[in-house]
Order: sequence, then structure tokens, then C-alpha cells
Amino acid sequence: MEDRIIAAGRKSEDDWQEVSLRPRTLSEYIGQDKIKDKLRIFISAARGRGDALDHVLLYGPPGLGKTTLASIIASELGVNLRTTSGPAIERPGDLAAILTNLSPFDVLFIDEIHRLQRTVEEILYPALEDFALDIIIGKGPSARSLRLDLTPFTLVGATTRAGALSSPLRDRFGVVERLDFYGPEELKQIVVRSAGILKVNITAEGAAAIARSARGTPRVANRLLRRVRDFAEVCAGGVISGEVAELALGMLEVDRLGLDEIDRRLLLTMVEKYGGGPVGLDTLAASIAEEAETIEDIYEPYLMQLGFLQRTPRGRVVTAAACRHLGIQGKDRQDTIW
Ligand SMILES: Nc1ncnc2c1ncn2[C@@H]1O[C@H](COP(=O)(O)OP(=O)(O)OP(=O)(O)O)[C@@H](O)[C@H]1O
Ligand SMILES: [Mg+2]
Repeated sequence: MEDRIIAAGRKSEDDWQEVSLRPRTLSEYIGQDKIKDKLRIFISAARGRGDALDHVLLYGPPGLGKTTLASIIASELGVNLRTTSGPAIERPGDLAAILTNLSPFDVLFIDEIHRLQRTVEEILYPALEDFALDIIIGKGPSARSLRLDLTPFTLVGATTRAGALSSPLRDRFGVVERLDFYGPEELKQIVVRSAGILKVNITAEGAAAIARSARGTPRVANRLLRRVRDFAEVCAGGVISGEVAELALGMLEVDRLGLDEIDRRLLLTMVEKYGGGPVGLDTLAASIAEEAETIEDIYEPYLMQLGFLQRTPRGRVVTAAACRHLGIQGKDRQDTIW
């Protein structure tokens, strides 16, 4: 999974490159227009009132720009960004230490917020609601609770699984936004912007070809751009034309819709072994030797977006469109959708 060129998740090679390609202002951030419009208003209202921005929850598949947006929010507010993640905060005291060290109106970014421990989460409730920290001193009958005031701050939480968040936590966010996959035109703009930063020579057709295969995901677009650039430098005098991009993507075994070997195996297994479905997630996971959670979080969202796969109460079902793309015949059955 980690070796997939089109994996939407982070890879170590991405880290430093992502920093240089990361937009720094809302106007540099391409797409997600509705979210940007709302944030612009909320941010300028908070600044105008001299107040902290309401807490923001960002959710959606990996690589769509949640972390990027968190740092943009802080910079547009003109405050510090303090970054941590659910699994990194082991004890309630760790979170208390972070909270007491914030400056007024700072943004605290908690990535993978669905992975916070329950005891840590409980510290967060009064902090989010009243900017207060409840500390218990002593044990047993003599224990007393002490309330400490915190400075006003904004929590920005990010998660790929909004469903895994407890409802008391979710309810404390004033702004909850779902990031969607990007359209081809937006991805093309992202590729062109990144090519500019990386000083790569690319034509409009080259950018469009990369955008088409990027699975609606900026991180994948940027990674494909770097791989195709390698190919162009060695084999095509450094220019990424449409033809060069298509050749390179073919070599990388990424097809015109960004599907790779694993996507194809998943769909083919459903057709060949399970008559197109419905097939349960766990059964499917066992058949292709992947974790159910990986299938659910990484592969399925994009396949569903393409209309290639549907989740039904009885299990997963392949669609006729997927069969057409794979060049196979769906069976003519009344009870399924093909
Ligand atoms: N709207 C955008 N415009 C331009 N580039 C973007 C945009 N969104 C994301 N990117 C690029 O994609 C990369 C990945 O984005 P980011 O790390 O913010 O994703 P994420 O949603 O936090 O992913 P994860 O769930 O894995 O943490 C960024 O480094 C940035 O270069
Ligand atoms: Mg992130």
C-alpha cells in the first residue's frame, strides 16, 4: 500500500516537498470555494471583533488539504499555529500543558483528532466551551476540583473519519466542513502552480493528463508531477507535454482515471469472485489481503466518487460503469444495478 504512487496518504518523501508546495494564503488555496468563502467571513468577523475564531473541524479523505487549511487559518488570523495530533497526546497532562502555553487567539491544530484518548478528550470539553481547565487536586473524599482560566484560542481539528468522533466532541465545533475531491480543472491549476514552484516546463495538455490521473487529490497530483518530471528529464528533454505525461503515467501503471493495480484487483475480485456483489467489507478485505479500514478509508472513497462502487446495507456492489472502464462484461441480473 505504502508503495503505491497514487496513495493519498503521506509518504516520507513528500514531507519536505509538501512544505514548499503548500499554499500559504486562502487566495493561493485552489478549489474548495464554499469552504474558503465561509472561512473568509468568519476570519474577518473574528478579527474585527477581536475575538477567537470559532473551533473548526475539517474532515475528508487524505491529501485533500486539511493540514494546509489549518495553517492558512492561523496565518490569515495573524496568530501562531501550534500543531499536534491525537495519538501524540498520551496523557491529560500533556494537553493541559499545551493549552496553558497558548497565546491569546492562537490556533491549536490537532490532526487525527478521532484518535484522542477519552481521558484527554474530557480535558478538552471545558477548554473548548469555557476556555477553562478543570483540575482535580487530591484523591478520594477530600478531592477538590479547581478551575483554571485559559486564554481564548481556536481549535482546528482534522480527521479522515468524522464518524469516529464522539458526539460531545463533534458538538463543540462551531464550524464543521467536509473537504471534497477536486475537479479536473482545479487539479490542473494545482499541477501548473506546483510546476511553477518546482521550475518544471509543462504544457496545458501535460498538466491536464496528470490532473486526470490524480484521483481528485492534490497530494497525488503533486507526487505524479514529480515522477513524470523525472521521466521527462531523462527521456524527453525536460518538457512535460501531453504525450510525455501519458507515456510516463503508463509506465507508472496509473490509468487515465488514476486507478492502479490494487483498485483494479479490488474491482475485478468483486466481479469474478462475488458476481459483482453485494459482498461484505471484511470478506472483500480478506480476498485481496488488505485491511478493511484501508479499503474503507483509502480506496473506496475515490471509487465511489467515480461511481464505480456503491455501499449498500448488504455490502459493496460494483457498477456497470466500473465494468466498462475495466473492459469486462457485467452480468445481466435484475437485482443488481447493471
Ligand atoms: N487547495 C489546494 N491548493 C493547492 N495545493 C494543495 C491544496 N490542498 C492541498 N494541496 C497540496 O497537497 C498537499 C497535501 O495536503 P495536506 O497535507 O494539507 O492534506 P491533508 O488533508 O492534511 O492530508 P492527511 O489527511 O493525509 O493529513 C499539500 O502539501 C499541498 O501542497
Ligand atoms: Mg494532514
